[in-house]
This record gives sequence, C-alpha cells and structure tokens, in this order.
Amino acid sequence: MRKQIAAANWKMNLTLTQGEQLLDTVLAKHHALTTDQQVVFAVPFPYLQAAQQKVAGRENVFVAAQNCYSKKSGAYTGEVSVEMLQSLGVQVAVIGHSERREYFNESNRFLAEKINICLEYSITPIFCCGEPLQIREAIMQNEFVKNQMEESLFHLSAEQIKKLVIAYEPIWAIGTGKTATSEQAQDMQAYLRNVLADKYGDAVAEKISILYGGSVKANNANELFSQRDVDGGLVGGASIIADEFVAIINALK
Ligand code: PGA
Repeated sequence: MRKQIAAANWKMNLTLTQGEQLLDTVLAKHHALTTDQQVVFAVPFPYLQAAQQKVAGRENVFVAAQNCYSKKSGAYTGEVSVEMLQSLGVQVAVIGHSERREYFNESNRFLAEKINICLEYSITPIFCCGEPLQIREAIMQNEFVKNQMEESLFHLSAEQIKKLVIAYEPIWAIGTGKTATSEQAQDMQAYLRNVLADKYGDAVAEKISILYGGSVKANNANELFSQRDVDGGLVGGASIIADEFVAIINALK
C-alpha cells in the first residue's frame, strides 16, 4: 500500500508557544499510526528545531520545512538551505506551494532546481501543483497541472521520482472553504497518476503518494481520503486547530 499521509501546513501562523502546545495536543490524541500512515508537520523555519524535539522517537511522524532555497550555500541573505535543514534532522520540505508560486514568483523551472537539491540532500519534497479558478473554468486543468509536473519533475529518473510526495491543491479551494468534491479530487489525481505511469511506468506511479489539499477539514477528510488515488491531505487552516487535525489524521486509510 502507498503511504497515506496527513501533512499539516501551518503557513505563517502561531507563536512558538502556541505551536508547541498544538504539537503536544495533536501528538497526545491521534490514533496509533499503522506502518503505512505518516504525519508531517510543516512548521515555520524558526520552530523546526523545537518541533523536531517534540516528535523525536515517534515512528512515522516527521517535521517539514515549508520551503528551502535552490542553492547549496552562499550570499543569499534570508534564505535557508537544504544543508541547514539536514543539519537539524529535517527530512521533508514542501516545495512549490501555490502561495510561493503566486507571491514569490516561483516558476516551474526554479522549482525543478529546488527538487534537485532536496533529493541531493535526501530531503523528501512534497511537490505542490494545482490550477487557478480561471483554468478550471476553462476546463484546462489537466493540461495545466501536467505541464507543472513536466517542467518541474520530468527530468528526474524513476528512482528519484519515487522519493517524492505530490500534493494536488486546486488554488480555488485553498483557504476558501470551497473544497473540491471527492470526485474532482479523484479525477485529477487518477489523471496525474496516469501521467506518471506514461512517463515512468505503472509500478512507479503506483508507489507515489498523491495528497489532496484545499479546505480539507475534519468533516470532509473521510470522504476525500476514501478515494482510490487520494493518499491523504496537505492541510492548512484545519491543521492549526488541534481537534480538527487529529480527526484528519484519524481519517487516513
Ligand atoms: P487550506 O490550505 O487547508 O487552508 O485550504 C491548504 C494548503 O494551502 O496547503
């Protein structure tokens, strides 16, 4: 079975104390994880170390960075390298979130560089893709998301791409309370798995976890996660409310 993943994306929210309390509560309350289930907390950079200490010793629970830079080191004031993440024991990074693409002009090609450096340093990228509303309205979403994958990922070998997690996040569903229906999520994610299969073969495509993101909540997680090609969620707003995120973890297949 593919890994089923509940990934929290705190974005730029919470103080350190609030974040620590949230972690304590979530970690104390969620069901025991099976070997195929994982929980990821993508926390702000300054909290990575504290979060690492909280999850230390817990199987299948990981701390993630929300971003990283594409260069190894050097004169890039304000940026954070994958080597720095690695030195903290961080094993996962969210790459290409739509907010990074939109507010920080991150292009598909630039994201390809970030993917490369993550893999070089054994950091698992959670690669985000997804279409804006006008593309969905024009029924061009499949081509749009395929192009994001092609330009950022398709230079990778089969061995490399197997190390990724993909998160399909339609932009019109992020933070809007407007969740994609489970059918819309399943349709797109089955399509993306087909695209991966065409390029890398069925065996590889079947191994890659594809998460859905965009207004995942306690009350829709079960329905979304029950879809064949939805291997969990990347969760923003509901991930900073302890009981919501606990219920989302407990909804994993
Ligand atoms: P949301 O955010 O759950 O608040 O819609 C999801 C995301 O941006 O990853």
